[in-house]
Amino acid sequence: MIEEAAKIIAHSRFLIAFTGAGVSAESGIPTFRGRGGLWENYRIEEVATPEAFRRDPNLVWAFYKMRMKIMKDAKPNNAHLVLAELEKMGILRAVITQNIDNLHKEAGNQHIVELHGNIHRVKCTRCDYMENLLESGKLEDFLKEKNLPKCPECASLLRPDVVWFGEPLPQEALQKAFKLAEGADVCLVIGTSAQVFPAAYVPYIVKDNGGSVIEVNTKESGITPIVDVFLRGKAGEVMQSLLVKVKRCLENKKC
Ligand code: OAD
Repeated sequence: MIEEAAKIIAHSRFLIAFTGAGVSAESGIPTFRGRGGLWENYRIEEVATPEAFRRDPNLVWAFYKMRMKIMKDAKPNNAHLVLAELEKMGILRAVITQNIDNLHKEAGNQHIVELHGNIHRVKCTRCDYMENLLESGKLEDFLKEKNLPKCPECASLLRPDVVWFGEPLPQEALQKAFKLAEGADVCLVIGTSAQVFPAAYVPYIVKDNGGSVIEVNTKESGITPIVDVFLRGKAGEVMQSLLVKVKRCLENKKC
């Protein structure tokens, strides 16, 4: 199967990747669903909805600060690094991610569409203020602060710049993702349960347009019934082997 996937990728005209929490699992970031997933210990309606934030901003901020701490210390794993290399090789055109952990950027990918926001950004609940705490160098101080974060411009409450359940996705990012999917002939789906829409439409769009879908996952997901090749295993390990085969395939024109 891995040879088949390598062949499809090596012959692709416009390859995109669609990633979920599983791509970052080997970087020590918990996934959401399944055993040990975040939604086993936290209730979505208590920590990840606009209503939850209105009801108890302290609880929601505690949940996000806990995740900010994990994500700021996490390093890209081999799956992220292989995707960055595939982009440098001119094969991979874009990574569309549901993740908020910034690891594709840290790995070196330049063309990234973040569908669910970014953990390092905060935005005002009232005005247009937005800040990337990593870039402004204020992340450590922000994490130490015990009081709720306030907007430096209008003093209203700040919130994480992530998408909560019941909220629309950032329209520009979503349109960009769908346009990339419409132009793609191959979609590499890595580490997602493909259960959360509209993000999960991405591989279906590629398939509907006659393209191929390759999936890398430790187990079957919502998208598995329509994929052309399913590669079972940990993303970091599978992606490394896949890269070796793609390179071999490109060198040996007969593949
Ligand atoms: P999920 O937690 O739903 O799914 C993670 C997927 O990764 C599962 O299919 C696992 O089998 C797979 N997986 C786990 N470890 C892996 C590994 N080492 N290598 C490869 N695959 C592995 O996460 P997402 O699909 O990303 O949304 O979830 C989608 C959205 O639901 C998230 O963006 C988040 C969540 O609630 C919001 O918060 C809006």
